[in-house]
Amino acid sequence: MNQLLQQSDFSKSDLIQLLHAEGDDLKLLYEHAEQTKLNQVGNKVYLRGLLEYSNLCKKNCLYCGIRQNNKTLHRYTMSESEIETAIRYAHEHDYGSIVVQSGERSDKAFIGEIDKILQISSRIGKHQLGITLSCGEQTKETYRRWFDLGATRYLLRIETSNENLYYSIHPRNAKHLFSARLQALSDLQTCGYQTGTGVLIGFPNQSIESLADDLLFMKKINIDMCGMGPYVVSKHTPLEKLAHQITDSATRVELSLKMVALLRILMPTINLAATTAMQTLDKLAREKAIRIGANVLMPNITPTCYREDYSLYQNKPGQKEQPEDSLATLQKMVKNAGCRIAFGKKGNSKHYSFIH
Ligand code: 5AD
Ligand code: SF4
Repeated sequence: MNQLLQQSDFSKSDLIQLLHAEGDDLKLLYEHAEQTKLNQVGNKVYLRGLLEYSNLCKKNCLYCGIRQNNKTLHRYTMSESEIETAIRYAHEHDYGSIVVQSGERSDKAFIGEIDKILQISSRIGKHQLGITLSCGEQTKETYRRWFDLGATRYLLRIETSNENLYYSIHPRNAKHLFSARLQALSDLQTCGYQTGTGVLIGFPNQSIESLADDLLFMKKINIDMCGMGPYVVSKHTPLEKLAHQITDSATRVELSLKMVALLRILMPTINLAATTAMQTLDKLAREKAIRIGANVLMPNITPTCYREDYSLYQNKPGQKEQPEDSLATLQKMVKNAGCRIAFGKKGNSKHYSFIH
């Protein structure tokens, strides 16, 4: 194992072997990932206040609780004053940056609404607040427009880099093209965004081999940021019917941690998030993820009245109040992981700064 870890690059078969690591081997992998993180990006953890702007969505991803065909949800869109209050909160608490996320729409009204949010954020943050968007596939013109309005980062998960698997978790139709997702990621990079992607880990029929390919895919397209986490079964979704086929949640969390550790080693200077989905399945998973490679946390700043309606999956934490995301709790957690929160910092991806 030690010899394998000393290599500067991993082949697909190396990655498969590492994803199967257990016991002492797994410990060595985690230690190596932790050292890589400390050497390359240090022990700072950046905060991104997560604003779940709207749960309206025109898509029907088979795993997601806010898919258009789920008629059991109350649909909401935050008002301008609610948005302002949330962004002000993040700014006043020195979060350093925010992520604006929503279901996917591409109509003119929606594009204008995001314009407005960007204007509000720039005004409140006086350009000192990093702004990330996570609003799905859009045209290059829209991406450019939002970039010009101050969004400098964009998250768009590929979910899986295997085209066949992609169509096993998305409807096979014109609204859900794998090729369009690839094109969108490339457009984001062309427009100059710090570009983030990520994958779902442990969904039905996914193999260790395909996860190894996912890691190599992220390296190949040269992303700047990544957010990935375990698949969590979501009620009122087609994929729920295959829930009996997946591994238990502890195994999915472990696999997610291995993915984080390996990506940190493969791409030492990217920004890597400890995600909410991990926390959903294991209260301590975010702390573990930070120790072994993650350097970004995304505390929720959505008004509590909307949180239940932004149920991508079941048991998403912080739906009522948010003790897990109180600053005191986050600080303690980060300290337990041997790191510290970098308050007031935008926390740009070091990987992006290197190549631009
Ligand atoms: N389990 C885990 N993550 C999910 N997402 C959506 N549904 C689920 C689920 N059931 C993630 C997707 C998407 C992000 C916004 O939320 O990866 O990109
Ligand atoms: Fe909509 Fe995104 Fe959920 Fe797909 S994953 S249904 S695009 S919110």
